[in-house]
This record gives sequence, C-alpha cells and structure tokens, in this order.
Amino acid sequence: MTVRLDVLPAADWATFVANELAARLRAEPALRLCLPTGDTPAPVYAALPGALAAARSGLGSATVVLLDEWLGLPAGDPARCDTRLRHELLDRVGRPSDLHLIRVDELQPEAAAAAHDVAVAEGLDLALLGLGTNGHVGFNEPGSTADSPTRVVELDHSTLNAAVGRYGATRRPAGGVTVGLARLLEAVEIWLLVTGHRKATVLARALEAPETPDCPASFLRRHPALRVLADEPAAAGLSAVLTRSGRIRGARDGI
Ligand code: GLP
Repeated sequence: MTVRLDVLPAADWATFVANELAARLRAEPALRLCLPTGDTPAPVYAALPGALAAARSGLGSATVVLLDEWLGLPAGDPARCDTRLRHELLDRVGRPSDLHLIRVDELQPEAAAAAHDVAVAEGLDLALLGLGTNGHVGFNEPGSTADSPTRVVELDHSTLNAAVGRYGATRRPAGGVTVGLARLLEAVEIWLLVTGHRKATVLARALEAPETPDCPASFLRRHPALRVLADEPAAAGLSAVLTRSGRIRGARDGI
C-alpha cells in the first residue's frame, strides 16, 4: 500500500491543488465531495474559479458535504464552517447540485450529527482534509480512532483557541460536530492538504511515526488511495527517502 505525496513550492501550491480538483470535476462532474474549511483550503478555493473556467468544469452537478462545524456559534459567525464555505467557495463558483451543511441551528447537536451522517453514508468519492497542529482531521481530535463515527465532540484547547484567535469567532465555541474517521476512511479517495512550516512536525508524525490515536491523521495511512498535497515548508520535516520517492509505504507495510 502506498501514499502519493506531492510537494510543491509554496507559491504554486494552491493553484496546483485547484487545477487538480478542477480536472477531477471535469472527469467526474457528479463527484461526491467532502470539503474542509480553515486557512489551508482558503487559497485553493480562491484559485478554484479560474481553475474551473480553464478546465471547463464546475460544481454544478457535484454533491458537497461539509466536513465539520462548530457548536455554540451563531449563524453567520465568521468562524463558522458553513459561513466560510459559502463566502470562500460557493459564492464564487455557485452552488453544487446537492449541498449538505451541518444543521446545528435547527437541530440538537446529536440530531445534527446523525442527520449529517445520513448524507455522508451515501458515500464520498473524494474527501479533502486539512491537518490540525495536534494531529486532528476534521474535528477528530487526539483520542479518536479509525472507527470513530460522525459525532458531537469536545474540542482541544488549541482548536478552540484557533476559532477565536485565527478565525475570528465572536465567542468561544461549545464543541463541534465532525464527520468521523470511519466515514472518511470509506471515501474512495482522500487528499490531505498541508501547508506552512507550523505543520511540518505534525505532518511527519502523521506520515512517518507509528499509527496512534494521539495523532488521528496517522490512521489515514490505512486508506488505499491517500494523496498528500503539501507545500515545501510543510514537507520540511519528512525524511529524504520519502520526499525523493514521492511514495510512502503505509502502516500495513510495517512503517
Ligand atoms: C480546524 C478544522 C479542520 C481544519 C484544521 C486545520 O480546526 N476543524 O477541519 O482542517 O483545523 O485548520 P487550518 O487549515 O486553519 O490550519
């Protein structure tokens, strides 16, 4: 089992990923996509209108499933994942044929998670994921395992601090709802997006240290079609063997 690794100069990374995604949508217009928000995908979404136009493709026939959502933030809060997805992507490229946000304003948290899981369970062709500095993917925080379901979660202090400090939340979130690692591992393909020097240590842990719930992203190596799209600063902690080959042997091969 191998993992495909693409390392790009920081200046080219977002355009490269946007072009790759546009090409996938061109080849498979009815793609069922799980999308993250946060600072990592933001430049990809900014580059996507141009990439889609160049590829003569779009989101119009696709299904978009949101990866995760905060609890306890009001609708329209700038840190809300649905707010960011609308502003940074959908307002620019138009609505997909089906859009599944996480219904935290209408439903109790557990019911919102269960309703979201119904949409996710229909299957994902491609899950795009960011990586937390603590090893989380979505809101699958440390302690999560490969069989973690879509659920309500308590959030790490570092994650809550990011909501207020980096994303401009108007108050401290009460928790989160996330697509579970089990569902993410069921996707046909996963692209892990990682940028910046501050992610270098955690990316090396995720790809080269033993699999552990302390770094939930390490379980992604179990996936048969994991692709890691990193910029050079984020890849700086990876071993030379790995970056030269562009191939990582998966956990089941003994690494
Ligand atoms: C956030 C989100 C994740 C995101 C990750 C990285 O808390 N819940 O889905 O991918 O942390 O965020 P960023 O891209 O802003 O570094």
